[in-house]
Amino acid sequence: MRVLVVGASGAIGTRLVHQLIEHGHEVVGTCHSPHKVEALRAHGAEPVVLDALDAHAVRETVARVVPDAIVYEATALADLRFGRNFDRTFAQTNRLRTEGTDNLLAAARDTGVRRFVAQSFASMRNAREGGMVKTEDDPLDPDPPENMRESQAAMRHLEQAVTDAGGIALRYGGFYGAANDALIEPVRKRQFPIVDGGGGYSSWIHLDDAAAATVLAAEHDGPAVYNITDDEPAPTREWLPVLADALGARPPRRIPVWLARLIAGEVAVLMGTDARAASNAKAKRELGFALRYPSWRQGFAEVYA
Ligand SMILES: NC(=O)c1ccc[n+]([C@@H]2O[C@H](COP(=O)([O-])OP(=O)(O)OC[C@H]3O[C@@H](n4cnc5c(N)ncnc54)[C@H](OP(=O)(O)O)[C@@H]3O)[C@@H](O)[C@H]2O)c1
Repeated sequence: MRVLVVGASGAIGTRLVHQLIEHGHEVVGTCHSPHKVEALRAHGAEPVVLDALDAHAVRETVARVVPDAIVYEATALADLRFGRNFDRTFAQTNRLRTEGTDNLLAAARDTGVRRFVAQSFASMRNAREGGMVKTEDDPLDPDPPENMRESQAAMRHLEQAVTDAGGIALRYGGFYGAANDALIEPVRKRQFPIVDGGGGYSSWIHLDDAAAATVLAAEHDGPAVYNITDDEPAPTREWLPVLADALGARPPRRIPVWLARLIAGEVAVLMGTDARAASNAKAKRELGFALRYPSWRQGFAEVYA
């Protein structure tokens, strides 16, 4: 297939370009920053500079490339600093997930692109009731923390719009495996604590496994939503000490809920105490997804040693 990867210069995009080429696909890859063109070419993609928020440019690019599939991996999370207001931190990414998705879907429709795969997120999405590990069919959180509502709504929008168009939305676990992994610095500096009992669950995925699943999704007919996560959804009290140890950091601090709320806000409390994670059973069953890093236990140690 001829595959247009939008966001090909990012953490998952670069790995995806390699794996698509290894699977015999031809890749046109986009970056947002013009200075990344040569790096994209070196990765083996035909490079294009594209702003997904520019509807005209998106239509023109898709019409010129005429891809068989579009994989949409654009986010704006580089140099991210987590503040108390989650929605403010994710504002540009939310625009990419709403306006950007709509621009690409409209262009895909105009050009008759058959397949569309887009990036969403797995953890902290589900209603906070019942078991801690959820499937794609379980209800989403009807009442997320106030300063996370726009971000949750943006992911819902993306998933609904993509599946309505016959495409596939991938709810990835938290990415790890790159030098710019967002949690490295806070964990090294002991700024990422265990809140209360640390019972909030997260799902993780090594970037190589995330890219492998994405290739399978691009080769698969939709519509569908898949959790792309590893085999071991786990509470913060389990994964965080292992990550700290792998990074050579001292063990994480423990703080009570009231202090976490004061310092980091309600989303940090949710993640630390009450968040649900995601089962990968459907992706394994329907996509034949097989993991090189079945658990963050082995993955953190290998990646950060
Ligand atoms: N599931 C997860 O846990 C998850 C998901 C996403 C990201 N992250 C993390 O966030 C950090 C940053 O991610 P990243 O390195 O991939 O960088 P990023 O800044 O999030 O960029 C991702 C991709 O989107 C492109 N892009 C940005 N703005 C765009 C726009 N307006 N239109 C079209 N494309 C646009 C970027 O192009 P340029 O490179 O040219 O800017 C890049 O190719 C990493 O640590 C990553 O692991 C985690």
